[in-house]
Amino acid sequence: MSLSNRFPLHDPDWVAQVHATQYLQSWSKQGVRPPVITGALGSWFWDSNGKRYLDFQSQLVNANMGHQHPKIVQAIKDQADRLCYIGPAMGCDVRSELAALVAEITPGNLTSTFFTTGGSAANETAIRLARHYTGRSKIVARYRSYHGATGGTLSLTGDPRHHLTRADMPGVVRMFDPYCYRCPVGHEDVSKCPVCRGGPHLEELLMYEDPNTVAAVILEPVTGTNGIIVPPDGYLVSIKETCEKYGILLIADEVMAGYGRTGKWFAVDHWGVQPDILTSAKGINSGYVPLGTMSVSSDIAQWLNKNALPGGLTYAGHPLACASGVAAIRAMEDERALENATRLGDAMRTRLRAMMDDHPSIGDVRGLGMFNGIELVRDRETRAPLVTFGAKGDAAAPMAAMMKAAMDKGLYLSFYNNIIRLTPPLNISEDDMFLGLSILGEVLEIADDETKQRN
Ligand SMILES: Cc1ncc(COP(=O)(O)O)c(C=O)c1O
Repeated sequence: MSLSNRFPLHDPDWVAQVHATQYLQSWSKQGVRPPVITGALGSWFWDSNGKRYLDFQSQLVNANMGHQHPKIVQAIKDQADRLCYIGPAMGCDVRSELAALVAEITPGNLTSTFFTTGGSAANETAIRLARHYTGRSKIVARYRSYHGATGGTLSLTGDPRHHLTRADMPGVVRMFDPYCYRCPVGHEDVSKCPVCRGGPHLEELLMYEDPNTVAAVILEPVTGTNGIIVPPDGYLVSIKETCEKYGILLIADEVMAGYGRTGKWFAVDHWGVQPDILTSAKGINSGYVPLGTMSVSSDIAQWLNKNALPGGLTYAGHPLACASGVAAIRAMEDERALENATRLGDAMRTRLRAMMDDHPSIGDVRGLGMFNGIELVRDRETRAPLVTFGAKGDAAAPMAAMMKAAMDKGLYLSFYNNIIRLTPPLNISEDDMFLGLSILGEVLEIADDETKQRN
């Protein structure tokens, strides 16, 4: 028997057909023929018909330095020539270089890093380590969260995808989110709200759960997938203080928010909070090679000198991934990506707020750096959402129509319930960013037609 070697790779029809029938696509019903992408550069990618798309998502919010960044590509090529793979227990220059760089840019005393193949594996290892280190079992996680697709991390995830786990990991305690636009406990005044202040809500949960049974609180410092929720000032500090009071570890899941997305290396840096464990992936190397990290405090690192790390991966510290991580971090520094994200992110939110005059469907504009979103409503006063949480089929029709219109107009946007996430590469040009926002304005006409103000 010999394997076929004459696949018609240059025929986009064949590629789309095999994608629909023989490739299984994440989180989706199968059988859909996708556009076939043949190239990408910077903030743009294009398909087999030559149609160009402006990437306002950075793919899965990971292409922080855009597509095909020459220095990252070159670093992968150079490393491939030198050493493609060596086991995780061996010394390797780029592995040590990345560990040292990560220790330099992560906050405070996060000194030591375990490398993984992505965010799920980083969080999975973090919760297992937190349980071993504290000798406790429960983990507090929030509803509006996504922590990964492995057994443990999907159980922690509050996003409805966690319903798919069936055999949930025991010991997950759910906490509400500081989602002030729709406060989960109905407080208008943040300063009086136990949930939006953080500590008081956590403290109440701990009273019922027994703090001595809780190993860790895991949270996204700025919520990504589940709606771009920036906590009010004081929230994270208050959560951290409550954790410290009871010997509970704080795990900051910076898989999406980290590596400059919010305009600082990490979102926790906005509030000077030092987590005990910080996980990352995605933007660390713009997603060019699978890579994630779990960085731990010096206390935990010292404990690990006497106790084995409860986790491991064949590809931990993969040289190609580490080389791309080093190159991406250096490029972010050289090209002032964080400053750009702050400056353009501010400009983006200013423009979006101005667009509210012409677009009654925009209920809320929020974000930090290049981590932005708009929440769409039927009525700005009542905040009735354009489509309800978890809406599918006809109930979600306006969002589906906008997604299609955006793609038709060459804008790649990210939708979640009634929220549009706007997360272009940190190094997008100002012209491209405003071009994207002007196409967004055209797409929003569909939502505006559904609003009370238009009718
Ligand atoms: C906050 C957060 N944590 C964890 C993950 C899982 O990361 P991965 O898909 O690399 O396993 C994601 C992915 O979107 C994420 O956004």
